[in-house]
Amino acid sequence: MCNGISEPGFVEKLIMNETFHHDVNPRHILITGGNRGIGYATTFQLMRAGHVVTLTARDKAAGQAAVERLRHENNRADVNVATLDLGSFAAIRRFAAEMETAQPLDAVIHNAGILVPASERRLTIDGIEECLQVHTVGPILLTCLLASRLRRPCRIVLVASSLHAPGTHGKEVGFDFADPNLARGYNPDRAYKNAKLAQLWFALEWERRFGGTGLHIDAVCPGFVPVTAVRSTTGMRRLMLKYALPWMPFATSVVKAARIEAEWALRDPEEPGGRYFDGRKITEPSEDARDDTKAQAFWTLVQTWLGHPIEI
Ligand SMILES: NC(=O)c1ccc[n+]([C@@H]2O[C@H](COP(=O)([O-])OP(=O)(O)OC[C@H]3O[C@@H](n4cnc5c(N)ncnc54)[C@H](OP(=O)(O)O)[C@@H]3O)[C@@H](O)[C@H]2O)c1
Repeated sequence: MCNGISEPGFVEKLIMNETFHHDVNPRHILITGGNRGIGYATTFQLMRAGHVVTLTARDKAAGQAAVERLRHENNRADVNVATLDLGSFAAIRRFAAEMETAQPLDAVIHNAGILVPASERRLTIDGIEECLQVHTVGPILLTCLLASRLRRPCRIVLVASSLHAPGTHGKEVGFDFADPNLARGYNPDRAYKNAKLAQLWFALEWERRFGGTGLHIDAVCPGFVPVTAVRSTTGMRRLMLKYALPWMPFATSVVKAARIEAEWALRDPEEPGGRYFDGRKITEPSEDARDDTKAQAFWTLVQTWLGHPIEI
């Protein structure tokens, strides 16, 4: 069932069996990392429901190939592509400048992420641990730069993870404000979990500061989708992800995960944000994630990295 996630047509075949309700109010939705994985499947679902989607890809050719596949399935698909690398502030600024002339956005899905972080620590060109920048710091800058293109009210979704909480498999989450870039004791599990925790601080602090402007950010865990990690792994881990884990009761499919991303992006934009959803349920995130002082400390840290206040 899940062997061919990277094969052309795999996601399409699964989604074709789904029933879509054509939305009478098409929305313009931006999704980052829409060229593959859950982001691609989410784009497909939104497109089938009649929405206009702008997807981003790091690689121009990969983005165009994704759009061609989407249009092949639906020649009326209103889908655009743009290049975006969240690992570079300069690239984020370039992308935001390109979006200046685009139609206003009704929703943004910050989906792009590094599912399997590098085994050795990597810093971005901006000097930030790569996972933290791609999942959290980059999306903060991007949201601010796009603010003038966002309709009010607007739903913004951060694709988060239940792994932000302590007690999950692998190295524990542990965000040390004295060492946010994990210079001491880097571990890929921890890098991922810290970045996912920081996303929740972002949602919390953003709602406190800017929720009143109608720009509402929520964090949503789409569930555990083993198949999307297959391409980034080798050996026994790859075999487990490909053949065993997809059948476990705690795993979900790429299509179901995409449905969750799409549903939250299409929720009533008037609803307040700052919430965390585990799948379809509003869930209390970890104690750390609810800590206002830590959320504010993270905000200050990001401002230091950006070299200016976070403003919209
Ligand atoms: N799979 C799961 O079990 C699971 C569970 C909870 C949450 N999530 C989250 O769901 C989101 C999507 O994950 P997925 O499973 O679909 O992963 P995926 O198949 O690996 O897709 C990741 C996407 O992010 C893009 N990306 C990576 N680095 C980027 C960068 N520097 N700048 C811009 N885009 C970048 C990738 O582009 P390239 O093609 O250029 O690499 C790709 O489009 C992630 O945020 C992930 O953390 C996943």
